[in-house]
Amino acid sequence: MSARPLRSVVVLSGAGLSADSGLPTFRGAGGLWEGQRIEDVATPEAWARDPARVWRFYQLRRAALREAQPNAAHVALARLQRELAALRVACLLATQNVDDLLEKAGAEPVHVHGSLAHLRCERCGRVVRDLEHVEPDVAVSCAGCSAPRLRPDVVWFGEVPREMPRVEDAIRAASHFVAIGTSGQVWPVAGWLALARACGAATIVQALDEPENLQPGDVFRAGRAADVVPGLVDELLAAR
Ligand code: OAD
Repeated sequence: MSARPLRSVVVLSGAGLSADSGLPTFRGAGGLWEGQRIEDVATPEAWARDPARVWRFYQLRRAALREAQPNAAHVALARLQRELAALRVACLLATQNVDDLLEKAGAEPVHVHGSLAHLRCERCGRVVRDLEHVEPDVAVSCAGCSAPRLRPDVVWFGEVPREMPRVEDAIRAASHFVAIGTSGQVWPVAGWLALARACGAATIVQALDEPENLQPGDVFRAGRAADVVPGLVDELLAAR
């Protein structure tokens, strides 16, 4: 970890953060895309072509959320955000994860790829929190405009991630940028590590395997997030 004083921090998390809570990552062995082509389940075109298939895929993941619990890494990140807030130090937790485990741990993340706990009406734009209706073959209609089928409120391939300007402004101002459990393969978010470097932040990367976008100047902490992140958070708080 750099000895630089911590003035503000942005943490970007990916599927590896929730792996220790039993939620599968996308690209590892046993990963979620295995046996399912991305184009068949995670694009607007797939939804238009075969909504029942896409719905089933997301309903299984929404059902899994009801059981999943935060692990020590989620809890540590919530502590980081809480303790820095008390010191009036900016701490933005941007996550590519569509699960709600950071919230369950008490954090307030920015979901750049949307949220499985929410459904959205493509006709009237209404968004509802809903983890009640998770049966694979039953569509949920819109209580606002009666459209027959809500979609998962997640960002699909070909759609624009949420809150990009807000996160990128925070990265430009950050003294520290931490990437946890992300393979650095999905753009534009994969470019944030390079943006942080270019803007002079100390860059810390935590994952099981070195991600594609790792550079020699980055600090790399290998291991399981639940084992490594609590200590990393201690180090960040000590740099204050
Ligand atoms: P990936 O599945 O691509 O990468 C998972 C990363 O987590 C890898 O770097 C692993 O080394 C690491 N990892 C696995 N288990 C871990 C553990 N227990 N502790 C720490 N690290 C671990 O997931 P993402 O990078 O999040 O997008 O994928 C990015 C995006 O690709 C997702 O948000 C999703 C997907 O397509 C959309 O759906 C738009």
